Amino acid sequence: MINIAVLGYGTVGSGVVEVINTNHKSINKKAGDEINIKYVLDLRDFPDDPVQEKIVHDFNIILNDPEIKIIAEVMGGVEPAYTFTKNALLAGKSVCTSNKELVAKHGAELLQIARDKNVNYLFEASCGGGIPIIRPLNSSLTADEIDEIAGILNGTTNYMLTKMAEEGSEYSDVLKEAQEKGYAERNPEADVEGHDACRKIAILSSLAFGRHVDFEDIYTEGITKISAADFKYAKVMNRAIKLLGFSKKVGTSFYAMVAPMMVSPSDPLYSVNDVFNAIFVHGNVLGDAMFYGRGAGKLPTASAVVADIVDEAKHLNRNIMSFWSSKKLELADVGESHRRFFVRVKGNIEEEKAHVEDVFGGVKYVQVPGLDGEFGFITGIITEGEYKEKADKLGSVISMIRMRNL
Ligand code: HSE
Repeated sequence: MINIAVLGYGTVGSGVVEVINTNHKSINKKAGDEINIKYVLDLRDFPDDPVQEKIVHDFNIILNDPEIKIIAEVMGGVEPAYTFTKNALLAGKSVCTSNKELVAKHGAELLQIARDKNVNYLFEASCGGGIPIIRPLNSSLTADEIDEIAGILNGTTNYMLTKMAEEGSEYSDVLKEAQEKGYAERNPEADVEGHDACRKIAILSSLAFGRHVDFEDIYTEGITKISAADFKYAKVMNRAIKLLGFSKKVGTSFYAMVAPMMVSPSDPLYSVNDVFNAIFVHGNVLGDAMFYGRGAGKLPTASAVVADIVDEAKHLNRNIMSFWSSKKLELADVGESHRRFFVRVKGNIEEEKAHVEDVFGGVKYVQVPGLDGEFGFITGIITEGEYKEKADKLGSVISMIRMRNL
């Protein structure tokens, strides 16, 4: 029997207990031993729930119990999760987690401690919820040099953007609806400002490129400025607007960014809608691959946590190598990355054309019937730095959305 503890009996923690109870027999078979939940740590009591007999309020009971070999940390947040995880690994226990804040901030250090102690720190649930992506990057795509990752990594914002596209609604209305349905938090900042996607692309890039990508180095824009009018232009251009987290190796430089982008129908990310997530990966020998599924929610996330528990049960006292070293990856200046930009400007197209072309050179105009006093255009391929300079010079920009596909 392998005894485990679950830290946190919130949405994901209760999901982990439910998954282990529901699929107990098959999970035990796959783990090669019986998985027994000995403790569940939570500040609260749950008198009407059978879990109550396993509830403890003091982490030291778990830390000091030599029978506990695996800990699932599903508390979220950096502290006390960081201290608990570090101490557990130092005590020779394996830890798995859904905690993207912690993995993005301290993943490199915690992985090193796990290596030194010959145990494991696994975090399949931290990116893409139930979608297997960490294990494929770590263990399956080992023949490749990954040169690009692009993902729809946040279910809340993908739900909101899908609604805006389908219903023509404004941002504030879909946010309200998403909050009422429980898809968006009352304080939605982490999702809508792109911080959640930023941490996830930092984790995926660190694994793919083998060096630590600091999430604080990643240029991040959210969806708060996307409007119903932007979707009218997107419709005319036959594009979807998606919040993407992406990183790319260009020559010897690495770029990373989180931003809303115009995505064309030929792109596999185009048709990823509602709360679904998808991660597109390009390998130098594999070519394109995409991982798709439920990126959030109690049971999909718990499914990934329990899969890590099974993996850790199969590798007790044996570290599963990971490619993420503590050495920092210096990202290139995002201002030097090249792309096309979709720009909305004030004014009449006939009157402004000469000025637009004087500043931006050849562009492709986009007009939405009925949308007066403004027009749009798609630039040629220029750098982010050049775009900023030209937009300032033009002086009449309403908004800009980057084009993912040339
Ligand atoms: N708030 C996150 C999302 C939860 O919407 O994707 C899963 O990480």
